[in-house]
Amino acid sequence: MTPAPASMSNHPCSSAVPNCQPTATPIFQTATFVQDSASAFGQYDYSRTANPTREVLESTLAQLENGRFGFAFASGMAAIATVLRFVKPGQTIIAGDDLYGGTNRILIDIAEPMGIRVLFVDLTNTEEIRNSLDDTVQLVLIETPTNPLQRIVDIEQVCSIVHERISDCIVAVDNTMLSPYLQQPLTLGADIVIQSATKWLCGHGDVTAGALITNEELLAERIAFIQNAEGNALGPQDCFLLLRGMKTLGIRVDRQEANARAIAEFLDHHPAIRQVHYAGLPTHPGFEIQNRQARGAGAVVSFETHSRAVSESIVESLQLFSITVSFGSVHSTASLPCAMSHASIPKEIRDKRALPSDLIRLSVGIEDVNDLIADLSQAIQRAQSDQEPTIETSEIAQSWASKVIERDTLSSVVG
Ligand SMILES: Cc1ncc(COP(=O)(O)O)c(C=O)c1O
Repeated sequence: MTPAPASMSNHPCSSAVPNCQPTATPIFQTATFVQDSASAFGQYDYSRTANPTREVLESTLAQLENGRFGFAFASGMAAIATVLRFVKPGQTIIAGDDLYGGTNRILIDIAEPMGIRVLFVDLTNTEEIRNSLDDTVQLVLIETPTNPLQRIVDIEQVCSIVHERISDCIVAVDNTMLSPYLQQPLTLGADIVIQSATKWLCGHGDVTAGALITNEELLAERIAFIQNAEGNALGPQDCFLLLRGMKTLGIRVDRQEANARAIAEFLDHHPAIRQVHYAGLPTHPGFEIQNRQARGAGAVVSFETHSRAVSESIVESLQLFSITVSFGSVHSTASLPCAMSHASIPKEIRDKRALPSDLIRLSVGIEDVNDLIADLSQAIQRAQSDQEPTIETSEIAQSWASKVIERDTLSSVVG
Protein backbone atom coordinates (compact mmCIF):
# COMPACT_ATOMS: atom_id res chain seq x y z
CA MET A 1 0.00 0.00 0.00
CA THR A 2 1.28 3.48 -0.85
CA PRO A 3 0.06 5.84 1.87
CA ALA A 4 -1.33 9.28 0.97
CA PRO A 5 1.01 12.28 1.50
CA ALA A 6 -0.76 13.25 4.75
CA SER A 7 -0.07 9.78 6.16
CA MET A 8 3.55 9.75 4.99
CA SER A 9 4.49 13.11 6.45
CA ASN A 10 2.98 11.98 9.74
CA HIS A 11 4.97 8.72 9.83
CA PRO A 12 8.61 9.51 9.10
CA CYS A 13 10.76 6.67 7.82
CA SER A 14 12.06 4.58 10.74
CA SER A 15 15.14 5.77 12.54
CA ALA A 16 18.58 4.24 12.50
CA VAL A 17 18.70 3.67 16.27
CA PRO A 18 19.54 0.04 17.00
CA ASN A 19 17.25 -2.08 19.23
CA CYS A 20 14.53 0.52 19.80
CA GLN A 21 11.69 2.19 17.96
CA PRO A 22 11.30 5.79 19.18
CA THR A 23 8.11 7.51 18.02
CA ALA A 24 9.94 10.82 17.60
CA THR A 25 13.13 10.83 15.56
CA PRO A 26 16.20 11.13 17.83
CA ILE A 27 18.53 14.07 17.27
CA PHE A 28 22.01 12.76 16.52
CA GLN A 29 23.79 15.90 17.65
CA THR A 30 27.25 14.71 16.75
CA ALA A 31 29.82 15.80 14.20
CA THR A 32 31.73 12.52 14.14
CA PHE A 33 31.03 8.79 14.61
CA VAL A 34 33.53 6.39 16.19
CA GLN A 35 35.03 4.06 13.64
CA ASP A 36 35.82 0.37 14.21
CA SER A 37 39.29 0.85 12.78
CA ALA A 38 41.33 3.40 10.87
CA SER A 39 40.29 1.91 7.55
CA ALA A 40 36.67 0.89 8.35
CA PHE A 41 34.48 3.99 8.14
CA GLY A 42 31.17 2.26 8.91
CA GLN A 43 27.77 3.63 7.82
CA TYR A 44 28.48 7.06 9.31
CA ASP A 45 31.77 8.81 9.92
CA TYR A 46 31.13 12.56 9.71
CA SER A 47 27.82 14.47 9.84
CA ARG A 48 28.61 16.71 6.88
CA THR A 49 28.54 13.53 4.77
CA ALA A 50 25.63 11.73 6.48
CA ASN A 51 23.74 11.90 9.76
CA PRO A 52 20.98 9.51 10.93
CA THR A 53 18.51 12.30 11.82
CA ARG A 54 19.06 13.88 8.42
CA GLU A 55 18.65 10.54 6.69
CA VAL A 56 15.20 10.03 8.23
CA LEU A 57 14.21 13.50 7.03
CA GLU A 58 15.69 12.96 3.57
CA SER A 59 13.89 9.63 3.09
CA THR A 60 10.61 11.18 4.25
CA LEU A 61 11.04 14.12 1.87
CA ALA A 62 11.73 11.73 -1.00
CA GLN A 63 8.59 9.68 -0.26
CA LEU A 64 6.45 12.80 0.01
CA GLU A 65 7.56 14.03 -3.42
CA ASN A 66 7.15 10.55 -4.87
CA GLY A 67 10.90 10.40 -5.47
CA ARG A 68 13.71 7.97 -4.67
CA PHE A 69 16.38 10.32 -3.33
CA GLY A 70 16.00 13.28 -0.99
CA PHE A 71 18.54 15.81 0.30
CA ALA A 72 18.11 18.37 3.07
CA PHE A 73 19.93 21.70 2.90
CA ALA A 74 20.52 24.64 5.20
CA SER A 75 18.02 26.75 3.21
CA GLY A 76 16.01 26.81 0.02
CA MET A 77 18.71 28.99 -1.52
CA ALA A 78 21.40 26.42 -0.62
CA ALA A 79 19.30 23.83 -2.46
CA ILE A 80 18.95 26.12 -5.50
CA ALA A 81 22.69 26.90 -5.45
CA THR A 82 23.33 23.13 -5.62
CA VAL A 83 21.12 22.81 -8.72
CA LEU A 84 23.07 25.65 -10.38
CA ARG A 85 26.26 23.57 -9.96
CA PHE A 86 24.98 21.36 -12.80
CA VAL A 87 25.50 24.25 -15.24
CA LYS A 88 28.94 25.12 -16.61
CA PRO A 89 30.21 28.43 -17.99
CA GLY A 90 29.06 28.78 -21.61
CA GLN A 91 25.85 26.86 -20.94
CA THR A 92 22.38 28.37 -20.55
CA ILE A 93 19.70 28.40 -17.87
CA ILE A 94 16.13 29.11 -18.89
CA ALA A 95 14.22 30.45 -15.91
CA GLY A 96 10.66 31.63 -15.44
CA ASP A 97 10.14 35.39 -15.57
CA ASP A 98 8.22 35.69 -12.30
CA LEU A 99 10.60 34.14 -9.79
CA TYR A 100 11.22 34.58 -6.09
CA GLY A 101 13.57 37.57 -5.63
CA GLY A 102 16.39 35.50 -4.09
CA THR A 103 16.37 33.08 -7.04
CA ASN A 104 16.49 36.02 -9.40
CA ARG A 105 19.46 37.41 -7.45
CA ILE A 106 21.48 34.20 -7.48
CA LEU A 107 20.93 33.87 -11.24
CA ILE A 108 21.88 37.45 -12.07
CA ASP A 109 24.58 38.17 -9.49
CA ILE A 110 26.21 34.75 -9.14
CA ALA A 111 25.44 32.53 -12.17
CA GLU A 112 25.81 35.20 -14.88
CA PRO A 113 29.18 36.58 -13.63
CA MET A 114 30.44 32.95 -13.76
CA GLY A 115 29.84 32.94 -17.54
CA ILE A 116 26.48 31.19 -17.47
CA ARG A 117 23.81 32.64 -19.77
CA VAL A 118 20.44 33.19 -18.08
CA LEU A 119 17.27 33.68 -20.11
CA PHE A 120 14.10 34.73 -18.31
CA VAL A 121 11.19 33.35 -20.26
CA ASP A 122 7.42 33.38 -19.84
CA LEU A 123 7.02 29.65 -19.22
CA THR A 124 3.26 29.88 -19.74
CA ASN A 125 4.01 30.63 -23.41
CA THR A 126 5.02 27.45 -25.28
CA GLU A 127 6.16 29.39 -28.35
CA GLU A 128 8.56 31.44 -26.24
CA ILE A 129 9.95 28.26 -24.64
CA ARG A 130 10.51 26.56 -28.01
CA ASN A 131 12.25 29.66 -29.39
CA SER A 132 14.61 29.82 -26.40
CA LEU A 133 15.80 26.20 -26.55
CA ASP A 134 19.18 25.54 -28.12
CA ASP A 135 21.97 23.05 -27.50
CA THR A 136 23.54 25.19 -24.78
CA VAL A 137 20.50 24.89 -22.49
CA GLN A 138 21.39 22.69 -19.52
CA LEU A 139 18.76 23.70 -16.96
CA VAL A 140 15.15 24.89 -17.06
CA LEU A 141 13.95 26.33 -13.78
CA ILE A 142 10.19 26.43 -13.18
CA GLU A 143 8.23 27.99 -10.34
CA THR A 144 4.49 27.31 -10.30
CA PRO A 145 2.32 28.92 -9.10
CA THR A 146 4.74 31.78 -9.66
CA ASN A 147 5.59 33.97 -6.73
CA PRO A 148 3.97 36.47 -6.28
CA LEU A 149 1.78 36.76 -9.41
CA GLN A 150 0.44 33.20 -9.23
CA ARG A 151 0.80 32.45 -12.92
CA ILE A 152 0.42 28.73 -13.62
CA VAL A 153 3.02 26.87 -15.66
CA ASP A 154 1.96 23.56 -17.22
CA ILE A 155 4.73 21.36 -15.77
CA GLU A 156 4.00 18.30 -17.92
CA GLN A 157 3.91 20.36 -21.12
CA VAL A 158 7.16 22.24 -20.39
CA CYS A 159 8.96 18.99 -19.43
CA SER A 160 7.90 17.29 -22.63
CA ILE A 161 8.84 20.27 -24.87
CA VAL A 162 12.27 20.52 -23.21
CA HIS A 163 13.06 16.79 -23.06
CA GLU A 164 11.93 16.23 -26.65
CA ARG A 165 14.38 18.89 -27.85
CA ILE A 166 17.27 18.24 -25.40
CA SER A 167 16.92 14.84 -23.75
CA ASP A 168 19.53 15.40 -21.03
CA CYS A 169 18.47 18.94 -20.09
CA ILE A 170 17.52 19.11 -16.40
CA VAL A 171 14.06 20.45 -15.61
CA ALA A 172 13.90 21.58 -11.98
CA VAL A 173 10.63 22.68 -10.39
CA ASP A 174 10.57 24.89 -7.33
CA ASN A 175 7.55 23.38 -5.57
CA THR A 176 7.73 25.71 -2.56
CA MET A 177 4.43 27.52 -3.18
CA LEU A 178 2.35 24.34 -2.89
CA SER A 179 4.39 21.70 -1.01
CA PRO A 180 4.34 18.02 -2.01
CA TYR A 181 0.98 17.69 -0.29
CA LEU A 182 -0.64 19.55 -3.18
CA GLN A 183 1.71 19.02 -6.13
CA GLN A 184 4.29 16.39 -7.09
CA PRO A 185 6.33 17.62 -10.09
CA LEU A 186 8.39 14.40 -10.43
CA THR A 187 5.22 12.57 -11.47
CA LEU A 188 4.69 15.25 -14.14
CA GLY A 189 8.12 14.69 -15.73
CA ALA A 190 10.46 16.97 -13.75
CA ASP A 191 14.00 15.77 -13.01
CA ILE A 192 14.53 17.62 -9.73
CA VAL A 193 12.13 19.15 -7.21
CA ILE A 194 13.28 22.09 -5.10
CA GLN A 195 11.69 23.01 -1.80
CA SER A 196 12.22 25.93 0.49
CA ALA A 197 11.24 23.77 3.46
CA THR A 198 11.19 26.99 5.48
CA LYS A 199 7.62 27.43 4.19
CA TRP A 200 4.84 24.78 4.22
CA LEU A 201 6.96 21.76 5.13
CA CYS A 202 8.09 23.43 8.35
CA GLY A 203 4.85 25.35 8.79
CA HIS A 204 5.77 27.14 12.01
CA GLY A 205 8.31 29.72 10.89
CA ASP A 206 11.00 28.30 13.17
CA VAL A 207 13.41 26.62 10.71
CA THR A 208 15.26 27.76 7.61
CA ALA A 209 15.71 24.71 5.39
CA GLY A 210 15.73 23.50 1.81
CA ALA A 211 15.39 20.24 -0.06
CA LEU A 212 16.14 18.59 -3.39
CA ILE A 213 14.37 15.42 -4.50
CA THR A 214 14.99 13.34 -7.61
CA ASN A 215 14.34 9.90 -9.07
CA GLU A 216 17.49 9.83 -11.16
CA GLU A 217 20.46 8.00 -9.69
CA LEU A 218 23.14 9.98 -11.52
CA LEU A 219 21.65 13.29 -10.40
CA ALA A 220 21.35 11.96 -6.85
CA GLU A 221 24.99 10.88 -6.77
CA ARG A 222 26.11 14.31 -7.93
CA ILE A 223 23.83 16.13 -5.44
CA ALA A 224 25.21 13.97 -2.60
CA PHE A 225 28.73 14.78 -3.75
CA ILE A 226 28.06 18.54 -3.85
CA GLN A 227 26.25 18.47 -0.50
CA ASN A 228 29.27 16.82 1.11
CA ALA A 229 31.89 18.84 -0.80
CA GLU A 230 30.29 22.23 -0.10
CA GLY A 231 29.01 21.43 3.40
CA ASN A 232 25.55 22.99 3.03
CA ALA A 233 23.44 20.21 4.60
CA LEU A 234 20.84 20.84 7.30
CA GLY A 235 21.97 20.34 10.91
CA PRO A 236 20.40 17.60 13.07
CA GLN A 237 18.39 19.93 15.38
CA ASP A 238 16.76 21.60 12.39
CA CYS A 239 16.13 18.19 10.78
CA PHE A 240 14.24 17.20 13.92
CA LEU A 241 12.18 20.41 13.95
CA LEU A 242 11.35 20.01 10.28
CA LEU A 243 10.26 16.39 10.81
CA ARG A 244 8.05 17.54 13.67
CA GLY A 245 6.48 20.30 11.59
CA MET A 246 5.90 17.94 8.66
CA LYS A 247 3.74 15.65 10.79
CA THR A 248 0.87 18.14 10.51
CA LEU A 249 1.44 19.15 6.88
CA GLY A 250 -1.85 17.76 5.54
CA ILE A 251 -4.15 19.13 8.21
CA ARG A 252 -2.44 22.55 8.12
CA VAL A 253 -2.56 22.91 4.36
CA ASP A 254 -6.21 21.76 4.16
CA ARG A 255 -7.28 24.37 6.69
CA GLN A 256 -5.09 27.13 5.27
CA GLU A 257 -6.29 26.48 1.75
CA ALA A 258 -9.96 26.58 2.78
CA ASN A 259 -9.29 29.90 4.53
CA ALA A 260 -7.40 31.24 1.49
CA ARG A 261 -10.21 30.31 -0.88
CA ALA A 262 -12.76 32.18 1.26
CA ILE A 263 -10.46 35.21 1.44
CA ALA A 264 -9.80 35.18 -2.32
CA GLU A 265 -13.56 35.14 -2.95
CA PHE A 266 -14.12 37.96 -0.47
CA LEU A 267 -11.40 40.11 -2.09
CA ASP A 268 -12.60 39.24 -5.59
CA HIS A 269 -16.02 40.72 -4.81
CA HIS A 270 -14.71 43.73 -2.92
CA PRO A 271 -15.23 46.97 -4.86
CA ALA A 272 -11.99 48.50 -3.56
CA ILE A 273 -9.80 45.65 -4.83
CA ARG A 274 -8.59 45.78 -8.40
CA GLN A 275 -7.36 42.29 -9.16
CA VAL A 276 -7.01 39.09 -7.17
CA HIS A 277 -4.36 36.52 -8.12
CA TYR A 278 -5.35 33.07 -6.86
CA ALA A 279 -5.38 29.96 -9.04
CA GLY A 280 -8.29 28.53 -7.04
CA LEU A 281 -10.67 31.11 -8.54
CA PRO A 282 -12.47 29.80 -11.66
CA THR A 283 -11.77 33.14 -13.38
CA HIS A 284 -7.99 32.64 -13.04
CA PRO A 285 -6.43 31.96 -16.48
CA GLY A 286 -4.48 28.99 -15.10
CA PHE A 287 -7.44 27.46 -13.21
CA GLU A 288 -7.83 24.45 -15.50
CA ILE A 289 -4.12 23.56 -15.59
CA GLN A 290 -3.90 24.00 -11.83
CA ASN A 291 -6.80 21.60 -11.29
CA ARG A 292 -5.17 19.06 -13.57
CA GLN A 293 -1.67 19.13 -12.10
CA ALA A 294 -2.25 19.88 -8.41
CA ARG A 295 -4.64 18.91 -5.63
CA GLY A 296 -5.30 22.53 -4.73
CA ALA A 297 -4.25 26.13 -5.20
CA GLY A 298 -2.49 26.58 -1.85
CA ALA A 299 -2.86 29.39 0.63
CA VAL A 300 -1.00 32.33 -0.89
CA VAL A 301 -3.30 35.01 -2.30
CA SER A 302 -2.07 38.21 -3.87
CA PHE A 303 -4.08 41.22 -4.91
CA GLU A 304 -3.77 44.73 -6.28
CA THR A 305 -5.40 47.94 -5.11
CA HIS A 306 -5.20 51.20 -7.02
CA SER A 307 -2.18 52.62 -5.38
CA ARG A 308 0.99 51.81 -3.48
CA ALA A 309 -0.15 54.15 -0.68
CA VAL A 310 -3.45 52.28 -0.25
CA SER A 311 -1.63 48.92 -0.28
CA GLU A 312 0.89 50.09 2.29
CA SER A 313 -1.88 51.38 4.49
CA ILE A 314 -3.79 48.06 4.24
CA VAL A 315 -0.73 46.01 5.15
CA GLU A 316 0.11 48.30 8.06
CA SER A 317 -3.49 48.36 9.36
CA LEU A 318 -3.85 44.59 9.52
CA GLN A 319 -3.91 43.17 13.03
CA LEU A 320 -4.03 39.40 12.60
CA PHE A 321 -1.70 39.31 9.60
CA SER A 322 1.86 40.13 10.61
CA ILE A 323 4.16 41.88 8.13
CA THR A 324 6.62 39.15 7.19
CA VAL A 325 8.70 38.34 4.11
CA SER A 326 8.10 34.60 4.20
CA PHE A 327 4.97 32.46 3.80
CA GLY A 328 3.61 29.04 4.71
CA SER A 329 3.35 29.35 8.48
CA VAL A 330 0.30 28.55 10.60
CA HIS A 331 -0.10 32.26 11.32
CA SER A 332 -1.29 34.67 8.64
CA THR A 333 1.18 37.10 7.16
CA ALA A 334 1.08 39.97 4.69
CA SER A 335 3.77 41.54 2.56
CA LEU A 336 4.40 44.03 -0.21
CA PRO A 337 6.63 41.92 -2.50
CA CYS A 338 8.11 44.91 -4.35
CA ALA A 339 9.37 46.36 -1.08
CA MET A 340 10.20 43.08 0.63
CA SER A 341 10.80 39.58 -0.84
CA HIS A 342 11.29 40.89 -4.41
CA ALA A 343 13.08 44.16 -3.59
CA SER A 344 16.38 42.67 -4.77
CA ILE A 345 15.02 42.55 -8.35
CA PRO A 346 16.09 45.79 -10.08
CA LYS A 347 13.15 48.17 -10.65
CA GLU A 348 13.51 48.16 -14.45
CA ILE A 349 13.21 44.34 -14.47
CA ARG A 350 10.24 44.46 -12.10
CA ASP A 351 8.58 46.98 -14.45
CA LYS A 352 9.32 44.82 -17.48
CA ARG A 353 7.75 41.84 -15.73
CA ALA A 354 4.74 43.96 -14.78
CA LEU A 355 5.22 43.27 -11.08
CA PRO A 356 2.87 45.90 -9.66
CA SER A 357 4.27 48.03 -6.84
CA ASP A 358 0.84 47.98 -5.14
CA LEU A 359 0.72 44.17 -5.05
CA ILE A 360 -0.08 42.72 -1.61
CA ARG A 361 0.74 39.08 -0.90
CA LEU A 362 -1.11 37.24 1.86
CA SER A 363 -0.06 33.93 3.30
CA VAL A 364 -3.18 32.64 4.98
CA GLY A 365 -2.89 30.81 8.29
CA ILE A 366 -5.11 28.54 10.37
CA GLU A 367 -6.94 31.29 12.29
CA ASP A 368 -10.74 31.57 12.21
CA VAL A 369 -11.55 32.69 8.67
CA ASN A 370 -14.25 35.11 9.82
CA ASP A 371 -11.68 36.94 11.95
CA LEU A 372 -9.28 37.10 9.00
CA ILE A 373 -11.96 38.51 6.69
CA ALA A 374 -13.03 41.03 9.32
CA ASP A 375 -9.40 42.09 9.74
CA LEU A 376 -8.93 42.57 5.99
CA SER A 377 -12.19 44.45 5.82
CA GLN A 378 -11.24 46.93 8.54
CA ALA A 379 -7.78 47.43 7.02
CA ILE A 380 -9.24 48.14 3.56
CA GLN A 381 -11.77 50.51 5.10
CA ARG A 382 -9.10 52.35 7.03
CA ALA A 383 -6.85 52.62 3.96
CA GLN A 384 -9.77 53.93 1.94
CA SER A 385 -10.86 56.48 4.48
CA ASP A 386 -7.34 57.93 4.29
CA GLN A 387 -7.64 58.21 0.51
CA GLU A 388 -11.20 58.26 -0.82
CA PRO A 389 -14.85 58.27 0.27
CA THR A 390 -15.57 55.26 2.48
CA ILE A 391 -17.22 52.14 1.16
CA GLU A 392 -19.24 50.15 3.67
CA THR A 393 -16.66 47.41 3.79
CA SER A 394 -17.76 46.02 7.13
CA GLU A 395 -21.17 45.15 5.62
CA ILE A 396 -19.41 43.42 2.75
CA ALA A 397 -17.27 41.47 5.20
CA GLN A 398 -20.32 40.38 7.18
CA SER A 399 -22.14 39.16 4.10
CA TRP A 400 -19.09 37.19 2.96
CA ALA A 401 -18.44 35.73 6.37
CA SER A 402 -22.02 34.42 6.51
CA LYS A 403 -21.66 32.90 3.02
CA VAL A 404 -18.54 31.12 4.20
CA ILE A 405 -20.41 29.69 7.17
CA GLU A 406 -23.41 28.73 4.99
CA ARG A 407 -21.15 26.76 2.70
CA ASP A 408 -19.82 25.00 5.78
CA THR A 409 -16.31 25.42 4.45
CA LEU A 410 -14.64 25.08 7.78
CA SER A 411 -16.60 22.15 9.17
CA SER A 412 -15.77 20.12 6.07
CA VAL A 413 -12.09 20.73 6.71
CA VAL A 414 -11.85 20.53 10.46
CA GLY A 415 -14.70 18.18 11.25
C1 LIG B 1 9.62 30.05 -4.17
C2 LIG B 1 10.81 30.17 -3.28
N1 LIG B 1 11.90 29.44 -3.54
C3 LIG B 1 13.01 29.51 -2.76
C4 LIG B 1 13.06 30.35 -1.67
C5 LIG B 1 14.30 30.43 -0.84
O1 LIG B 1 14.14 29.68 0.33
P1 LIG B 1 14.91 29.99 1.70
O2 LIG B 1 14.41 31.31 2.17
O3 LIG B 1 14.56 28.84 2.57
O4 LIG B 1 16.37 30.04 1.39
C6 LIG B 1 11.94 31.12 -1.35
C7 LIG B 1 11.96 32.02 -0.19
O5 LIG B 1 11.06 32.77 0.05
C8 LIG B 1 10.79 31.04 -2.19
O6 LIG B 1 9.71 31.78 -1.95
